[in-house]
Amino acid sequence: MAEGDAGASLGKIPQHVAFIMDGNGRWAQARGLPRNAGHRAGRENVRRVLDACGEFGIKHVTLYAFSTENWKRPTDEVRGLMNLFENATDSELAELHRNGVQIRHLGRQEGLSPLLRNRLNHAAQQTRNNTKLVLSIALNYGGRAEIVDAVRRMIEAGLRPEDVTEESLSRYLYTAGLPDPDLVVRTAGEMRLSNFMVWQAAYAEYYSTPTFWPDFDREELRKALASYDQRHRRFGQLDQQAK
Ligand code: FPP
Repeated sequence: MAEGDAGASLGKIPQHVAFIMDGNGRWAQARGLPRNAGHRAGRENVRRVLDACGEFGIKHVTLYAFSTENWKRPTDEVRGLMNLFENATDSELAELHRNGVQIRHLGRQEGLSPLLRNRLNHAAQQTRNNTKLVLSIALNYGGRAEIVDAVRRMIEAGLRPEDVTEESLSRYLYTAGLPDPDLVVRTAGEMRLSNFMVWQAAYAEYYSTPTFWPDFDREELRKALASYDQRHRRFGQLDQQAK
């Protein structure tokens, strides 16, 4: 399938889709496997979903990979996840780069291993001019922490109170320069944001599916996009103004 063709039957395709990849643990549990086996299956699925996003012509994909709250999980699970991120940012880089994917990291660098920081920075640096698809990985990410970090940086930069606007604050977020997500997809049934892109998703459409992340495939993505296609976005305005 040629890139972008898959969405031909859909009226509108979101420019930016953000995924809350939930349900790896339950996927593993249902198979009698350790939780980290679920995360490994989740990692494999990232490749499949990214390919499908490309086919549908989605230009921005953001993945909620590890929240600032996830550090409270059992040490073994955190270690397994960090190993997985260290490996993936190394082993997937060449192919992502070849496919024209730009990689960005959203989140705090403090707390991550020097190896993972280096790999994230290297991936961002190497792919910075790619334009086919922008993949943002939210890792050690918290939406409230992001706003706090932005305010701190604004104060450090010497902004005056009257310089603080929604536009200027947006420029200090980790997502500076990225469009806001149009659609937030959450797998595994929960219907909450869990501190994900709380600023940027103010006007996003939400889609929740009971499917666990490792099973979220191209057909599941198509269903999410079909649901988005039916939505009528008004951005707080009246119908006739939002057209
Ligand atoms: C939530 O499922 C998932 C995570 C905390 C980790 C998500 C990470 C991946 C899918 C790997 C992605 C890899 C890259 C390189 C971006 P959960 O463990 O909370 O599931 P549960 O609610 O069923 O326990």
